Amino acid sequence: MAGFSSDDDSNGFHDGDGNKTAGKVIKCKAAVVWAPGEPFMMEEIEVEAPRRLEVRLRILFTSICHTDLTAWMGENESQRVFPRVLGHEAAGVVESIGEGVEDLRPGDRVVPVFNGECGDCAACRSSKTNLCCGFAVDPNRSVMRSDGRVRFYCAGRDGVRRGVGAAWNAANVDEGSKVAIFGLGAVGLAVAEGARLRGAAQIIGVDINTDKFVKGREMGITEFVNPQDYTKSVHEVVRELSKGGVDYSFECSGNLDVLRQAFLSTHKGWGLTVVLGIHPSPRMLPLHPMELFERKMVASVFGDFKPKSQLPDIINKWIIGANKINLDGFITHELPFTEINQAFQLLSEGKALRCLLKL
Ligand code: APR
Repeated sequence: MAGFSSDDDSNGFHDGDGNKTAGKVIKCKAAVVWAPGEPFMMEEIEVEAPRRLEVRLRILFTSICHTDLTAWMGENESQRVFPRVLGHEAAGVVESIGEGVEDLRPGDRVVPVFNGECGDCAACRSSKTNLCCGFAVDPNRSVMRSDGRVRFYCAGRDGVRRGVGAAWNAANVDEGSKVAIFGLGAVGLAVAEGARLRGAAQIIGVDINTDKFVKGREMGITEFVNPQDYTKSVHEVVRELSKGGVDYSFECSGNLDVLRQAFLSTHKGWGLTVVLGIHPSPRMLPLHPMELFERKMVASVFGDFKPKSQLPDIINKWIIGANKINLDGFITHELPFTEINQAFQLLSEGKALRCLLKL
C-alpha cells in the first residue's frame, strides 16, 4: 500500500490542474513488508513514471482484504515475493499518464481494479466473461506486463486489489430462492447484500466466528449456523434448514474443506456453488468427479462485472443513485495509514470487515 506523502504539494501536484511530476520518478510513503508476517514498516519508496498504457495514481484511501492477509503471511506459494507493497482495494486520483492512455487524464478520480478491460478483444466483446484476453487478473504476477519489471523501489530494492456481483451475475440469484453463504467476512456479507436485493427468501450464514452473526443480521441473513455447534456435517445442517438443499451456495472463507461443505449443501439437480474464496493451499478440489453430475460449481472473479464498461453504471445506480447497497455497513473501522499494522491485526482477529486507511 502506497500513497503520496503529505507534502505532495511541494511536488507541485494539485488535482486536475496538471502536474510537475509527470514523467519523473517520485517519492512517496508506503507500508512495506520485508518478510512474511513481519510488521509493516513506513518507508519512503521511489515510484517510476508510468510507461505506455500505464497510469500513476495518488492513493487517498485504501483497505485490507483477506487476500492481503495471506500475501502478508507468504501463505500463497505463487506470491512469496518480498519485500513488497500490498493493497488492491483503494480509491485515488490520476497523477500522471503514460503514452497511449486516452480515456484518463490527471485529476480524474478513480477506483483501481485488478481485472482489466481493453474493450477490443474477443473476451471484452463477449457477454459471457469479464476476463480480458490481455489484462485479466493474474494472481501469480507481481511485475508489470509490459516489461516484466516493477515500478516501486525501496532502499535500492524492488518493493512491491466481488460479492454482490457473484450473487447477481455468477449465480443470478432469483426472487424467493434459498441461499447459503460460507464465511461471513466482507466478501460473504456482500453476497448476502446481493441476495437480499434480489429477493432471496432464505439466506443462511455459516461461520465459526459468532461475532459475525450480529453484522450478518443487518445484511439480510435470516439464519445462522456455527459448524462447531453440531456433531454432523454442516452441509447436512444446511440441507435440513432449507428442506432439501439451497439453490445457491457461496464459498467465501478460502478453506477447501468448507468448499466441499458448500458444494454438498445445495439441492440435487439444480444446486449451484459459486467459489469466491482464494485458496492458498496447493491441495486439489476435494470432490469426486461423479458428484458433478448432481450439482454445479463455478468461480467468480470481480463479481463477473466488466470493470470499465459495467462498474461505473453499478456505482451510479446502486450506490450513489438509489442508495440501495448498504456500502457504509462494510466499513467497520477507520484509521490513519500509519496504523496499518493495527488494521491487519483487526482483520486477522475477525474484528473488522473493512478498515478504511486514510492517507
Ligand atoms: N467455516 C466457516 N467459516 C469460516 C471457516 C470455517 N471453517 N474458516 C473461516 N471462516 C470465516 C471466518 O471466521 C471469517 O468470518 O470466513 C470468514 C472470512 O472472512 P475474512 O477473513 O474477513 O475474509 P474476506 O475479506 O471476506 O475474504 C474472503 O475471499 O478474497 C478472498 O482471500 C480471501 O479467501 C478469502 C475470501
